[in-house]
Amino acid sequence: MAEEALANAVGSVVPGDEAKFKKCDQIAFYRRQKRVHKTQYLPLLDTVVITEEGAQLELQDPVTQVKLLLQVCAIRDGTVRVTINELKPIRERYKVPDVLIGKPVCERLKVVRREKDSLTLGWGSGQNRFRVGVCPFVLEVLCEEEVTVTLNPQGMLYFETLQHPPKPGLSSESNEEEAREPMGLWKETFKQFVDVKANGPSSVGLDFRLHGFSHVYGLPEHADSFQLKDTSEGEAYRLYNLDVFAYDIYSRLGLYGSVPLLLAHKPDRSIGVFWLNASETLLDIRTSVDGLLSTDEGASGRRQVSTHTDLHWMSESGVIDTFILLGPTPSQAFSQYAELTGYQAMPPLFSLGYHQCRWTYKDEADVKEVDAGFDRHDIPYDVIWLDIGHTDGKRYFTWDPRLFPDPVGLQRHLEERDRKLVVISDPHFKVDPLWPLYLEAKQGGHFVKDRAGGLYFGTCWPGESCYVDFSSRKARSWYSSLFTLDKYKGSTASLFVWNDMNEPSVFNGPEKTMPKDAVHCGGWEHRELHNLYGFYQHLATVEGLMSRSGGSERPFVLTRSFFAGSQRLGAVWTGDNVATWEYLKISIPMLLSLSVAGMAFCGADVGGFFQDPEPELLVRWYQAGALQPFFRGHSAICTRRREPWLFGDAVTAAIRAAIQQRYRLLPYWYTLFHRAHTSAQPPLRPLWVEFPGEQDTFAVEHQYMIGDALLACPVTDPGVTEVKVLLPGVGQSWYDIHTSQVFRGGRTLSFPVTLDTVPLFQRGGKVVPRKTEPGSCTADLQKLPFVLTGCAEGELYLDDGHSFSFQDRKQFALRRFSLKQGRLLNRCAANEGQFDSGCTVQSVSFLGVKKRPSAVTVQISGVQKDCAEFQYQLEQHSLTVRGLDLDVGKDWEIRIL
Ligand code: GLC
Repeated sequence: MAEEALANAVGSVVPGDEAKFKKCDQIAFYRRQKRVHKTQYLPLLDTVVITEEGAQLELQDPVTQVKLLLQVCAIRDGTVRVTINELKPIRERYKVPDVLIGKPVCERLKVVRREKDSLTLGWGSGQNRFRVGVCPFVLEVLCEEEVTVTLNPQGMLYFETLQHPPKPGLSSESNEEEAREPMGLWKETFKQFVDVKANGPSSVGLDFRLHGFSHVYGLPEHADSFQLKDTSEGEAYRLYNLDVFAYDIYSRLGLYGSVPLLLAHKPDRSIGVFWLNASETLLDIRTSVDGLLSTDEGASGRRQVSTHTDLHWMSESGVIDTFILLGPTPSQAFSQYAELTGYQAMPPLFSLGYHQCRWTYKDEADVKEVDAGFDRHDIPYDVIWLDIGHTDGKRYFTWDPRLFPDPVGLQRHLEERDRKLVVISDPHFKVDPLWPLYLEAKQGGHFVKDRAGGLYFGTCWPGESCYVDFSSRKARSWYSSLFTLDKYKGSTASLFVWNDMNEPSVFNGPEKTMPKDAVHCGGWEHRELHNLYGFYQHLATVEGLMSRSGGSERPFVLTRSFFAGSQRLGAVWTGDNVATWEYLKISIPMLLSLSVAGMAFCGADVGGFFQDPEPELLVRWYQAGALQPFFRGHSAICTRRREPWLFGDAVTAAIRAAIQQRYRLLPYWYTLFHRAHTSAQPPLRPLWVEFPGEQDTFAVEHQYMIGDALLACPVTDPGVTEVKVLLPGVGQSWYDIHTSQVFRGGRTLSFPVTLDTVPLFQRGGKVVPRKTEPGSCTADLQKLPFVLTGCAEGELYLDDGHSFSFQDRKQFALRRFSLKQGRLLNRCAANEGQFDSGCTVQSVSFLGVKKRPSAVTVQISGVQKDCAEFQYQLEQHSLTVRGLDLDVGKDWEIRIL
């Protein structure tokens, strides 16, 4: 009954009900920063101090005499850090902790030139420099003598220094001007909510010019185009973690998570700007054309024009702490960012399989029935999920005794087929003095406080709730301890976790979240760290699962809210989308934005969370989801059941085919995740990452690369019989992965599709490892043989798929395949690793073989073995060698004669 009430409540929300949320001009610090057009800070060059850590100097506002401290440093590997704080704040300002993975290693700066009105500092080989200009104050970052980024080009450096509260009666809030256009210095009102600012105004802002760049990306999470738009018209991009049910699309409203990283790309350089601030943040973007550089048409046939993009970052609080990633390649920019905030966690293999979720599987019998349905219909899957309905009255870490009387038995049942269970665990705790966990948290001081020092109460699924203060190390370690098997009754080692509602979502709070004046440990107001709340819950949960296994097993935790650095903890998804074609379409740019901002393990609810998809949409969504990193079907409580076999044979067959193809390709996905984990390259990539010089790719957002070898173009429109696909790379070959038909790159292709097919191409020159069969789950797959397809080069990463022994004991194998002059070599690509998968390569399909070979032979350790059985297809130029049975972990070669 309670569930029904919830269903009604959810159902009654008008999708895209954005009135609950602020527009920029309803945000006081935005209005304040916009009102001030220019500030004139002067750098005091005689205050420069250079140390091992970088350089610092004072900036002074000539009017107020206020002094700021500017620090610059050059981080090894091509990142520049610029911080600006008050020289002597009356109180400490919030500096984002726990996001950077360590203290960046800085290069020694040298004074290159000192003039009356400027100071130039260099480092390393002298290729890159800073120039501090005095009048007006600018900070230029030069790469190879060229100004690449300028800070404060338009004088928008803005810094509200902390003040003592005004004496009663003198409040600026009371004067006339304030009444006309409230500046919200000490108090801000939105609807019925009053935000009392204990520390008064503390906003910061700075502008940047990115020279020569007109394409910018990243900055998740918004339901918007991949390429970020000029905001001269309309709203600034907002980064404020919010629970926006059935969010509007093509909106710049902040959604569940925030990564304040923007990437800019032009043919010869990719750079990034990372703005490390966890308070509410807004970004204005303007792209301008400076003028014609030359009237000649360049080699590209385009007129040479010079452009730039201006960024204006504004945050409600904290300090200015910004990092400029200098690339110059996209892949260097990705690793520069990962060196700061961490690499993607290496996921357990099962988590790359298919996940079946629903709000809510009713009871144990329902779960078992769905589980059996997958086997009955020969559809592989790995994980079934339990939403809030499995708990005893929305008390996480408990089970509804009527519906789930034997949770351990249920997990054992799933384990028999090597499947896992994921349960939800939200950050709110039901206020229930009879519930021991609530009491423990209350007595331990683990909940967030209100501004008066009492417990903060908000409402969420259980009704009145308290919220764990995850910013507190002590509270995190208490929360982590709840996941130990003896404490979490009914859990086993095959249970994993889903953190939801952790923006945090507060049904009766301002903008459906926690009031900014709530108080966290250390006395910090919620406003300082709002965007970090979900990151911290994710961290505590991951640590809980890690300690549950004594640090030996890889955790899997999905989170809805996230911040920079969440990638090192696990997976994210794009929240409450809707079962319409538009939402399927927008999921691709949303996932690309997440991917380039480091959140590589990302996905969208397949089928659309809210409302019922028509069968064709469901099929198309499965096909898209199967080609995206995190692959989970999920649906809201008020929707009709939609397990893949409920819509007739044709639909079941199409969904089966999509999921099976995903499973066959899992060795490739797993290898890509190993790459993300070790070198920060996202599995899902915009085309420009692989074809950085090709301008045609810069605006592409409905097709993408999976690694460097596959190009996917999911179908996102109803009733289509052909799809336009841009195949980049003049001279590049692309092979339809189903037929091996070859297409030339450098053009847009009209590609015919049926309900069963999705354009998926393999890039010539690459090898993709697959499994011969999909298996029924990933554990099954681990034992099956491989098929290699392609030519030239590729990699395969192997380990046990679940533990940390790949790290602790180097139990892994990295194989490299390379084809040179008719010889395909399988060689070890990482000497320090050792792992025997026990799997063989059964067949190899070479693509692009121009003539029929006379024979194909196999050599193992330099000794020639038998001639192999092969088949050549002239039309496709494909050669398939079968019956090989070669140990994938050993060196061998195949010779085409
Ligand atoms: C939120 C989540 C959704 C979940 C529901 C109930 O809306 O985004 O995935 O099913 O809460 O827990």
